[in-house]
Amino acid sequence: MVDLEHLVNLGDFEAAAAEQLAEGLLAYYGGGAGDERTLGENLAAFTRRRLRPRVLTDVSGVSAATTVLGAEVSMPVLVAPTALHRMAHPDGEPGMARAAAEAGTVFCLSTLATTRPSEVAAGAPAAPRWFQVYCFRDRAVTRALVDEAVDSGFGALVLTVDAPRAGRRERDVRTGFTVPADVDMPAVRAAAGGSVTPTPAEFFSLLDLTLDWSVIGELSRSGLPVVVKGIQTAEDAALACEHGAAAIVVSNHGGRQLDGVAASIDVLPEAVEAVAGRLEVYVDGGVRRGTDVLVALALGARAVLIGRPMLWGLAVGGEAGALRVLELLKAEVELGLTLLGTPTPAHVTRAHVE
Ligand SMILES: Cc1cc2nc3c(=O)[nH]c(=O)nc-3n(C[C@H](O)[C@H](O)[C@H](O)COP(=O)(O)O)c2cc1C
Repeated sequence: MVDLEHLVNLGDFEAAAAEQLAEGLLAYYGGGAGDERTLGENLAAFTRRRLRPRVLTDVSGVSAATTVLGAEVSMPVLVAPTALHRMAHPDGEPGMARAAAEAGTVFCLSTLATTRPSEVAAGAPAAPRWFQVYCFRDRAVTRALVDEAVDSGFGALVLTVDAPRAGRRERDVRTGFTVPADVDMPAVRAAAGGSVTPTPAEFFSLLDLTLDWSVIGELSRSGLPVVVKGIQTAEDAALACEHGAAAIVVSNHGGRQLDGVAASIDVLPEAVEAVAGRLEVYVDGGVRRGTDVLVALALGARAVLIGRPMLWGLAVGGEAGALRVLELLKAEVELGLTLLGTPTPAHVTRAHVE
């Protein structure tokens, strides 16, 4: 049993998770597509940025709190949608949702979850939550899931647009990763016609490859704001605005889809410019430090999402581990804001990074 108090940063959680997880699951969680160039770039790009602190700015009342889509959050860090939480720990998605609620931030439930939306709501009623949508060819299944999310108090839909097919994650090929028969993915089982749950790679064969921009309007009819996740160009950022998105996530899916694309933090500035204040812009991929969050804010993001670090937290300590990851990052963001001379996220500007 790992003593969470001895893990002092997100890197420690990654190392502890690597000790603990079975080889196949570790490879599934950690891996990227192809040569993993983009996976590496997401991390490397942050190391190329330099913060420009200002001094004597009265930082007595530092707070990391902000809002996303009008909802108050304790820090500009949200929990990204990731698959298969019960494989990391029996606390699963409800545990992750409770950790996010305890830390005061939003939890995004994946379509590839091992828990259905209504169960997450019942298991973590206080948690602010968004539902991530993959659109199945069988639209009735997607509509039923969205209806369940609406009825279960989810506050937004996160439409993931960078994964019409799964990237080729060669670590999974080598380990032969499959989801054990006793791990249920309810949404995927429904889309597969109630038969056994397919592997993550087979799951993508159930998705609608004909999707175009009209899907934003289609999902908006649910009454929930639609966040488009997986934007990687200024052109698509502008189109998301024109088609009624409420926000975008500049993301390359943690380097798991098209290998060779730029780090998402490097794409962020062109997306922010194209959007020109019309909607909120979030970014994910490689955020491991409070200072990475500051870089993202300075380049125009309203908030970041973190994927793998939350899985490491859940794997190491269930709900308590996931909470500790968020607490560590929040403390780093608060310290970073203080030393950058910016009492709140709103004070961080383009001039604070080069
Ligand atoms: C194991 C794993 C599973 C993921 N599953 C999903 C998913 O089901 N839906 C989705 O939109 N993104 C998914 N993602 C992508 C994350 O939402 C996020 O974009 C990415 O993890 C951010 O990069 P980071 O892990 O470096 O923080 C997944 C990522 C990982 C690592």
